[in-house]
Amino acid sequence: MKPVKVGICGLGTVGGGTFNVLKRNAEEIARRAGRGIEVAQIAARSSNPQCDATGTPITDDVFAVADNPEIDIVIELIGGYTVARELVMRAIDNGKHVVTANKALIAVHGNEIFARASEKGVIVAFEASVAGGIPIIKALREGLAGNRINWLAGIINGTGNFILTEMREKGRAFEDVLAEAQALGYAEADPTFDVEGIDAAHKLTILASIAFGIPLQFDKAYTEGITRLTTADVGYAEALGYRIKHLGVARSTAVGIELRVHPTLIPADRLIANVNGVMNAVMVNGDAVGSTLYYGAGAGMEPTASAVVADLVDVTRALTTDPTNRVPHLAFQAEQLSDHPV
Ligand code: HSE
Repeated sequence: MKPVKVGICGLGTVGGGTFNVLKRNAEEIARRAGRGIEVAQIAARSSNPQCDATGTPITDDVFAVADNPEIDIVIELIGGYTVARELVMRAIDNGKHVVTANKALIAVHGNEIFARASEKGVIVAFEASVAGGIPIIKALREGLAGNRINWLAGIINGTGNFILTEMREKGRAFEDVLAEAQALGYAEADPTFDVEGIDAAHKLTILASIAFGIPLQFDKAYTEGITRLTTADVGYAEALGYRIKHLGVARSTAVGIELRVHPTLIPADRLIANVNGVMNAVMVNGDAVGSTLYYGAGAGMEPTASAVVADLVDVTRALTTDPTNRVPHLAFQAEQLSDHPV
């Protein structure tokens, strides 16, 4: 079968990571998707030294990707609300499927985007928009599909958690750690989104929409960041047997769904209090399953790329005319088990 053709818009941290993972794991990805995934075009304003895209056609015009008749799936990794919205709408109008990591876009314009995608019969997939490499959207939609969700709560901004961890463990100053998070590619283009809780509120809005089956309502989330915390506050909490964690919480209450993000004191012996650095963790409580916990890297080049590629595999499977490949059975490869159990 011919490979599915994708266009990557944006070759920054996540775009570069996506290109690298698609190239390095091409064989495994093709086996799981049922066919190969080929990057047919990239739109980027500059090259990425962490990614060798030699041989792949490059343009500086993202709309050229949306209009490219060869391309089946547009991967939107440029971020922001404005150009990204136009790009995604244009791709949908051109009958292309979309994969995006853009939580701001989904949280703020998702209702409009999904309505247009339904009209046009295309898929918009966004696993990478929440909690980096943790497959939390798939967990809510698929693994927990039989549950009534009571609440979910988690650390969903890697930059903020990295800052709080470094302040606590090494007594470092807030601004110093934020600069390092930016250098490591964890922070948003505008880091106030990370430290003022806006990024976490975007992600919480998306999670709540899936968990509770409600429209995306970013403006209803109570949003407080970590900018007023000092190294001394973090130290006092520690001395009292607590950790300060920035949490996003969505709860079903008698008067409706409550959404809030803010710093929280958590007893130091709890699992979630020990989620450190750029790691994220999300707890979900469902009426049938009880409490569950999902943990992994919340930001960064390849963890986020892992989620983008998972969506590409899902969309590719959905495009197959063979219904048995839409939910694949075990996909074997020639490699044999070792004769020597470890
Ligand atoms: N700036 C985000 C974070 C990136 O630190 O969590 C991943 O969404």
